[in-house]
Amino acid sequence: MFGSLRSKLIASYAAVIILCLVLAGSGSAYLLRAYQTQLAINRLADLAVPLTITLRRYERANVPRVDVQQVMKDYANQLDLRILLVDSHGQIVSDTNGTLTGQQLPAPAYRRQHLGIPVFWGSFEPEHEAPLTFVVVGLPMERTAARPILYDYDLVVAVPEQSVTGAWMELAPGLAAAAVLALIISVAVAALLARSIVRPIAQVIHASERMARGDFEQYITVNGHDEVGQLATSFNTMAREVGRMNRAMRDLLANVSHELRTPLTSIEGFAQAMVDGTIRTPEEYADAARIIGEEAARMHRLVEDLLYLSKIESGQITIEQKRLDVPSLLEACVRQVQPIAARAGLAIELRTGDLPAVLADEHRLQQVFVNLLDNAVKHTPAGGRVQVQAYVDGVALASDSPRHGAAHRAGPPWIAVEVHNTGSFIPPEHLQRIFERFYRVEPWRPDDGSGLGLAIVKEIVQAHRGKVSVKSDPAEGTTFIVYLPAA
Ligand SMILES: Nc1ncnc2c1ncn2[C@@H]1O[C@H](COP(=O)(O)OP(=O)(O)O)[C@@H](O)[C@H]1O
Ligand SMILES: [Mg+2]
Repeated sequence: MFGSLRSKLIASYAAVIILCLVLAGSGSAYLLRAYQTQLAINRLADLAVPLTITLRRYERANVPRVDVQQVMKDYANQLDLRILLVDSHGQIVSDTNGTLTGQQLPAPAYRRQHLGIPVFWGSFEPEHEAPLTFVVVGLPMERTAARPILYDYDLVVAVPEQSVTGAWMELAPGLAAAAVLALIISVAVAALLARSIVRPIAQVIHASERMARGDFEQYITVNGHDEVGQLATSFNTMAREVGRMNRAMRDLLANVSHELRTPLTSIEGFAQAMVDGTIRTPEEYADAARIIGEEAARMHRLVEDLLYLSKIESGQITIEQKRLDVPSLLEACVRQVQPIAARAGLAIELRTGDLPAVLADEHRLQQVFVNLLDNAVKHTPAGGRVQVQAYVDGVALASDSPRHGAAHRAGPPWIAVEVHNTGSFIPPEHLQRIFERFYRVEPWRPDDGSGLGLAIVKEIVQAHRGKVSVKSDPAEGTTFIVYLPAA
C-alpha cells in the first residue's frame, strides 16, 4: 500500500496532521471542559440566589415547612434541578426528590466569586445514586468567617454531575466535523506537495530507463536548487558524460577500422596479385613482401599505441618516480631522432641550463620528447630549424596551472621544455583538437602517422602531474611546451 514514495509522503504528512489534530483537540477539550464547568456552576448560582432569598422570606414569615417544601418542589420541577435543605451539621433535611433526606452532604470543595456573591460548590456521591454537583450561595448579609450561612437551613441546588462535566461534549460533534474537514483539506494539499516532489524523481527514473535501453541523449528540466533539483542536475551531467563516452567509443571503433582498412587492402591486393600471377619475377616478389611487411608493421604500431593509450588511461601503467636530470634526458632523445633529422637535412639545436631534477619515469618521458621531436622533424621544410630548450618556469603556468596565481606558487618550481620548429603552421581550429586520438591536421598526408602520438604525449605528461600546450604561428612556426613539476 505504501510502496511508492508518493504514498509514503502522503502517509507521513497525514500522520503529522492527525497528531497535530489530536494534540490540539485534546488541549482544547481540556480547556473547554473547565470553561463549560464554570458556565454550568454560574448558571446554578444564578438560580440559587433568588431561591435562597425566597427561602429566607418564608422562614422569616414562619411559613410551615411543608409549604416551603412544596414551593421548592415546584421550582425544582420547573428548573429541572434538585433543591436540598441542609442543616448546620450538613445533614440533608429535605430533598425535592425525597431520596436523599437524612444523608450527610460533604463540605463544598470549591469557592468562587460570582457577581460579587461567594459561591460554594462541590461534588457529592450519594448512596445508590449517580454523583451530583451541588452549589450553595452565601448572600452578603448571611456571611461570617466561621460558617458561610447562619440561617437554620442552607439551600443547596444540585444537578447530576454528568450534566455539568459533560457539557463540553455538546461541542464535540462540531469539533470532530471541523477536524475531519481539516484532515481532508490538508491531505489533499499534502498530495499536491508530494506530487511536486515525486514528479522530478519519476522523470529521473524514466530517463534512466531510456538510457538503459541505449538512448543516451537524455535531459531533465531542472527546477530549483534543492536536493531534487540537484538530483536532476547531476543526472544531466551524468547523461552528458555517458553520451560523450558512447560517442567517443563509436568514434574510436570507426577510427580504428578506418586506419586498419588501408594496410589490409594493400596486403590483400598483393596477396591476390601473387595468387593470380600478376607478380612473377623474384624482384616483384621481394617488393611485395617488403610492402606487406611495412603495412603489417604499421598495423602493429597502431595496435601497440592503442593498447598503450588504454593502459595509461585505465591507470594500469605505473609511473616510476626517479630523479632525472632533464638536460641529459633531452640529449638522449635528440640523439635518437638525429638520423631522421640528418636524412631531412636538419640539425637539432638543444639549449639547456642548470635545472632542478624532476621525479619521473625515464622511459616514458623519453617517449614524450621523441614523439614531439619526430613530429617537429617531419613537419619542418628543408632549410628550417628544430630547437629544444628547457628552463625553469615562473610565469607561464601562473594563470592556468593547478596552483593559481603568484601568491600560491610557493611549492617547487615548474620545468618547461619547448620543442620548436620553423615552417609549419597549425590553424587555430585544429590546434585545440590536436591532442585527440587519431586527430590529424592533414589526414591525406602520406606519412606513417596515425594521429595517436600526441594523445600518448598528453596522457604521459598528465600521469606525471604535468601539462602540455601548443602554439603555432605562420611566421614563427610551431612550439610544443611540456611543463613538469620539479622534484
Ligand atoms: N610540429 C608540428 N607542426 C605541424 N603540425 C604538427 C606538428 N606536430 C604535430 N602536428 C599535427 O598534429 C597531428 C597529430 O600528431 P600526432 O598525434 O603525433 O600524430 P601523427 O604524428 O601520427 O600524425 C599530426 O598529424 C600533424 O598534423
Ligand atoms: Mg607523431
